[in-house]
Amino acid sequence: MAFRFMSPVYRLGLSMYLTSAWGHVPSQHLRRWGYRRLFGLTIPRTSVIYSGAEIRAPYNVVIGEFTSIGHHAILDGRGGLTIGSNVNLSTGVWIWTNEHDAQDPDFKITSAPVAIEDYAWLSCRVVVLPGVIIGRGAVVAAGAVVTKDVEPFTIVAGVPAKPIGKRSPALRYCLSGYVPIV
Ligand SMILES: CC(C)(COP(=O)(O)OP(=O)(O)OC[C@H]1O[C@@H](n2cnc3c(N)ncnc32)[C@H](O)[C@@H]1OP(=O)(O)O)[C@@H](O)C(=O)NCCC(=O)NCCS
Repeated sequence: MAFRFMSPVYRLGLSMYLTSAWGHVPSQHLRRWGYRRLFGLTIPRTSVIYSGAEIRAPYNVVIGEFTSIGHHAILDGRGGLTIGSNVNLSTGVWIWTNEHDAQDPDFKITSAPVAIEDYAWLSCRVVVLPGVIIGRGAVVAAGAVVTKDVEPFTIVAGVPAKPIGKRSPALRYCLSGYVPIV
């Protein structure tokens, strides 16, 4: 109730603090429960978010089945973020849906949704920029910055990310295992 009398900037700060703090609760189940029930994230029981995540506008983030979000992810839901099923985000993946218009005299904020399709693997320290679609089964190599859409079953690397290979579409795994607590 007290939230209603706070200025918007304080409300924003408090909600960012609470969602980040929640990311350190030492239980996969409790963390997922809170993300769903307290913060409005859409995530099924089969998916996990490892600790240290920062989730902005979690009520605009939708995660599919058997997906694994690695440690210290940043998921920006402000412009709308959809992550499919059997998606693997390794440690330290940052997905942004908002940015500033560098040419605008008022430095205005623009936003565009991001979609990560089923079976994609974003390896460690990947950065995804607003408006990008990462296709089914695509792989993004460690440290890449993804500025444009990635075709399905394509492996990309570098800054900006460019194709370096193809992945076999014959995928049958299910990311059902996870490490508890952490
Ligand atoms: C994408 C990845 C799986 C390799 O894919 P691959 O198809 O086997 O690629 P290759 O090793 O054959 O490399 C192909 C080319 O891309 C380059 N390349 C590979 N990974 C790269 C990267 N992260 N950044 C830039 N270039 C890269 C290689 O140097 C090679 O270049 P060359 O042809 O000029 O020699 C691997 O590079 C990677 O990023 N692994 C992630 C590791 C990780 O995050 N582990 C933690 C979570 S499990």
